Amino acid sequence: MIKVSAPGNIFLSEEHVCVYTRTALLSAPDLRTIFSVEAGHRGISVLSRSLGRASAIPISGRLDGVSDALVPTFMLVEKVAKDYDLKLEPLKIIIDSEIPVGSGLSSSTALLISGYFAIAKFLGEDPWRLSIEEVYERVFPLQEYIHEKTSGMEIFSSHIGGFSLVRERKLSKHFGFEGPACVIGDTGISRQTSAVVAAVAKWKARQPEDAEEIFSRISRITGEQDFAISREDWEMVGELMNENHILLSRMGVSHNKLNLMVNAAVNAGAYGAKLSGAGWGGVMFALCPSTRRDAVTRAIARYGRAFPTRLGAEGVRPEH
Ligand code: MEV
Repeated sequence: MIKVSAPGNIFLSEEHVCVYTRTALLSAPDLRTIFSVEAGHRGISVLSRSLGRASAIPISGRLDGVSDALVPTFMLVEKVAKDYDLKLEPLKIIIDSEIPVGSGLSSSTALLISGYFAIAKFLGEDPWRLSIEEVYERVFPLQEYIHEKTSGMEIFSSHIGGFSLVRERKLSKHFGFEGPACVIGDTGISRQTSAVVAAVAKWKARQPEDAEEIFSRISRITGEQDFAISREDWEMVGELMNENHILLSRMGVSHNKLNLMVNAAVNAGAYGAKLSGAGWGGVMFALCPSTRRDAVTRAIARYGRAFPTRLGAEGVRPEH
């Protein structure tokens, strides 16, 4: 059996703006999806223990009747075989995940990356030899199938972990070090990324001057965050996160629960906190000194689920 895991990811800066700039600063929290592949009996079967769903089809069979949530996994199997020009064999796939599904930590990207690598490895290939851009190009069409109009920025972060500055769809900088303590707050409210992206596009068209001002400040924050991370100056990173959250709220993508979690985390001693991803629910995260992690976790847990973790986790890797 081949087992591969990949982390979810958070946006330190430039969610939504990246749909236009293709630039973002991301990091991987240590919450992972584990994708296992072994030889099957006849066709392709997929069991997602995290979603509580299972489906099976004959090799190269049609996807009618497959559980909607599992369609991208079957498409991924076909994609790997096509990319490497391989003949498909019967496969049995099992998916486990520590990443809350639909939360905004991009469990879908962690699934696509861990799955691409696990299936390719099972079929005798070495996907670790692919360049970062090649992995992005190969996985992006499926990411686009799951979230139409996506920038796909998360693919870089789930692939290589650490901290990634992506500019114009290319990895511009990568810090592989372990970051500070981090607590993720999940509002439990899930929303369609494409709906929030469409609402931002409408807002931008209606209020071009506000949008211009906010987008250019967020782009500058990305540069300042990059500088602060390179110095491991987490206090500065935290201050910039707080400002970023206010700007995202002005764009209309926050949620009362997210604001409550962000304020509670900062009052409990976090360096800073912000929503991450599409917003309108989903998740926020706070960075804090390790001595404050318990207090910050308790503060966030007053409003939803809190996941203590750390940033800068390892990217895609084999599991035993
Ligand atoms: C969603 O995880 C991040 C957004 O920027 C959309 C995208 O980049 O595709 C809101």
